[in-house]
Amino acid sequence: MEKIGNATGLLARELSIDVVDPRLYGTFLEHLGRAIYGGVFEPGHPRADKNGFREDVCELVRDLNTPIVRYPGGNFVSGYNWEDGVGPIDERPRRLDLAWQSVETNLFGTDEFVSWCRKVKSEPMMAVNLGSRGIDDARNIVEYCNHPSGTHFSEMRRSNGFLDPHAIPVWCLGNEMDGNWQIGHKSADEYGRLAQETAKVMRIVDPKIELVLCGSSNQNMPTFPEWEATVLNHAYDQVDFISLHTYFGNRNDDSANFLAMSLGMDAFIEEVVATCDYVKAKKRTQKKMMLAFDEWNVWFHSNSADEKNIPWQEAPELLEDVYTMEDALVIGCMLISLIKHCDRVKIGCLAQLVNVIAPIFTKTGGGVFKQTTYYPFRDVARWGRGTALDMKIISPVYDDAEYGSVPFIEAVAVIEEEAEELTIFAVNRDLINTRELAVDSRDFSDYQPASCFFMKNSNLKACNTLRYPCNVTPEEGVLPELSSGSLRLRLQSASWNVFRLSKSRNL
Ligand code: AHR
Repeated sequence: MEKIGNATGLLARELSIDVVDPRLYGTFLEHLGRAIYGGVFEPGHPRADKNGFREDVCELVRDLNTPIVRYPGGNFVSGYNWEDGVGPIDERPRRLDLAWQSVETNLFGTDEFVSWCRKVKSEPMMAVNLGSRGIDDARNIVEYCNHPSGTHFSEMRRSNGFLDPHAIPVWCLGNEMDGNWQIGHKSADEYGRLAQETAKVMRIVDPKIELVLCGSSNQNMPTFPEWEATVLNHAYDQVDFISLHTYFGNRNDDSANFLAMSLGMDAFIEEVVATCDYVKAKKRTQKKMMLAFDEWNVWFHSNSADEKNIPWQEAPELLEDVYTMEDALVIGCMLISLIKHCDRVKIGCLAQLVNVIAPIFTKTGGGVFKQTTYYPFRDVARWGRGTALDMKIISPVYDDAEYGSVPFIEAVAVIEEEAEELTIFAVNRDLINTRELAVDSRDFSDYQPASCFFMKNSNLKACNTLRYPCNVTPEEGVLPELSSGSLRLRLQSASWNVFRLSKSRNL
């Protein structure tokens, strides 16, 4: 265990992991709390457009650069009747949302979601209800959304004002079906069979769609990884992805342990990959299963407040975590973990996008601000496009009772060959010391440091609020030194860092 010293790394094209699928930087919007109502949709708000979409929120979502948004749940989808949310507004039923014990007005539904996605320049990613419903409703919603015309549901969409198909490319086969909290919770065999048959039928309606099978709700589920092996055994040939979900929290106020948690994410991904490849071998197939990490985040601040929630309100304040500097560091480490596994993880969805455990936070009837976690996400969604490079970091470590030896430095690089730009993302987990990362960059001898940003705050619990929205924001740093093919990156204690290099120096 080395507590002092610096880290080393390497930048070389031959260490390429894979091309990053831009969908790795997806997000998630659920009918939950104030995510939709008072979040993205608030007719009558001074900044609402003619559809009731809040322009102030749209601006921040566009700036976040998220290419795909998962919808409508989450636990919500397992009790959702999609037909309730389409057609004339005044005919839409108010319903009990059993997942979150709220009242769902259905003023916002599939068509509104797709219109909103077009406005923020993201693709919709839709989940079907395999909890209280099944094959029939799944095929009907694909017909409603993706079939051009001339049938019952495609004509229903057209009569609702959407002449062209929504062409939704990615569909989730239910949500967290392994969890006993889920409406219509199933055993692995029950779910595997249902998913297999539902997938088959959805693809007959639209052969172009991609499908996500539910994996375990988290790595600590007692049925993990047997669940994955069983459901894949049933549905391997019919699906393109298996899902992973993970939420971390600093419940014991142990920051060193909290910052180490992304190592659990690394392990989870690698274990799911191993299970997929086991089923691949068993089936003697050439098809490689890809992963959709379609829910990940920090989630714990709001837990105790949510226990006091009064049921059956419209848009209650649920899961309203206010994020700190240290949460942003964990998000940075989780993003690095996703990029490091981009050969198998093709879709990632930060859960969620607005108000509910989210990087964007609004006041209903008021303003909006960026949480601390907004910034690392925006940085990678903006600059983490291209080919990911494993930097072979060798870092001093610290001991953690749960995770063992934890490297102080976490880093990954992404090269965009065409634009001749290279970006290094790095977190220093050391809570006390600045650390140096010496990178052998001889393979990029014609690249120069062009810009650098960091985010740090002497108070790990510092956060942004509506009143003080700029407490924790990125700052421009000093360009790193480059001499004799060695790049010396200075990483302040407990900081998120972005170093950009280019051939032209004009970044
Ligand atoms: O994102 C919040 C909830 O977390 C989702 O509804 C569910 O899928 C998960 O348990």
